[in-house]
Amino acid sequence: MPIIINGNDVAREIRYEIKAKVGALQEQRGIIPGLAVILVGKDPASRIYVRRKTEDCEEVGFFSREFKLPENTEEHRLLSIIDELNRDGRIHGILVQLPLPQHINANAIIDAINPRKDVDGFHPYNMGRLFTGDPFHQACTPYGIIELMDRHGIKIEGKNVVIVGRSNIVGKPLAMMLLTRHATVTVCHTRTKNLSEVTRRAEILVAAAGSVEMIKGEMVRDGAVVIDVGINRREDGTLVGDVAFSEVVDKTSYITPVPGGVGPMTRAMLLTNTYNAATRLSSAQ
Ligand code: GUN
Repeated sequence: MPIIINGNDVAREIRYEIKAKVGALQEQRGIIPGLAVILVGKDPASRIYVRRKTEDCEEVGFFSREFKLPENTEEHRLLSIIDELNRDGRIHGILVQLPLPQHINANAIIDAINPRKDVDGFHPYNMGRLFTGDPFHQACTPYGIIELMDRHGIKIEGKNVVIVGRSNIVGKPLAMMLLTRHATVTVCHTRTKNLSEVTRRAEILVAAAGSVEMIKGEMVRDGAVVIDVGINRREDGTLVGDVAFSEVVDKTSYITPVPGGVGPMTRAMLLTNTYNAATRLSSAQ
């Protein structure tokens, strides 16, 4: 029988652990971790994500600041807010919700964040450290995927892992994390030839392409672990993943559902990164 991985349960467990550690950190060192979340524009999904990130902070006892800026905010205004937050001693983590409006250069914004406060793990410094196998802050979604597997006792070392999708947010950093954990990693994308042949070899298959139910039953090897990173919204508003769950589930040993699989883990790892940033920044001061 396949095990359907409950990301909500694991994320809740992580929040409990962090909440307990925050209490101790405050008592022993007088530090309260602080996160700043910046949203530009009115993208409905982004608004929900940002609200939930702030609620998570409240739940675990973090200090948080939320910036909601209009769609037409100029790049220099965003840069000046980041500059202020880089110098704000109460803030240990800075997150700029992506995607940003077209007129803002997202790379320039990410570059401006102090890498020690880059709890998204998107700054080239953090990406580079991940690449060399000595990570500092790791991107939250791939970090959450590794944590989900670890907490279910899924062995990564020596496994054939296939990732479908090569984004900077998921596919590329995940490939590096898995390499560090001694997996054999293949990254597929839109130009990959004979995709099903490749995916059928996967002992662990990660779907992170952003394409509705593109992973069909015949693309999955018997007994595979299937991780679905897709969050696609159907016209009727329901969420659907990159995996055709009903035709894939019975072939798997473990599978993550959408919603309630990887999604909640992204936010949990943001809290982990912010907690770690607070302990490290404060000891550096
Ligand atoms: N948009 C989608 N995923 C993410 C994420 O992990 N971080 C940020 N900042 N924006 C996102």
